[in-house]
Amino acid sequence: MLVDSILNHYPKEKDYVIEILLDVQKEKEDNFISQEEVKKIAYYLDTTESHVCSVLSFYTLLSTKPRGKNIIQVCKDVPCYVRDDFNLLKTVKDFLGVNFNETTTDRIFTLETTACIGCCDEAPVMRINDRVYKNLTKDKAIKILKEYRGNDY
Ligand code: FES
Repeated sequence: MLVDSILNHYPKEKDYVIEILLDVQKEKEDNFISQEEVKKIAYYLDTTESHVCSVLSFYTLLSTKPRGKNIIQVCKDVPCYVRDDFNLLKTVKDFLGVNFNETTTDRIFTLETTACIGCCDEAPVMRINDRVYKNLTKDKAIKILKEYRGNDY
């Protein structure tokens, strides 16, 4: 099973809980951590499920709900907001046809918002999975989304 093979790569130390959670989530098509996986991780690390859940709920990169293949996170903090003269979140929402915290019907994208991701001097910014896109314009954002979707329309 997936979670077992990932756990076997880590020492049985609580300090690795974040790395394990990120690895498990990354390998799953639906991009989330299930309650069953929380139990297995807690057992392996000899810690409590509530400890694993507290880490899981703290990081916006992690989710307890099934999501799309690609996670889009639009930064909503003040520097991005101030420099966003075209409304990045609305541009992405309109392109995908979903609201934030929703997944497209083809399950290719889930749209989320995030706090500052440390690129304020190159705002506005969005992250898709592990990659950060900076200095976005409306055209640039749409071009990036089309590339992920794999077609032009
Ligand atoms: S405020 Fe958006 S990256 Fe810092």
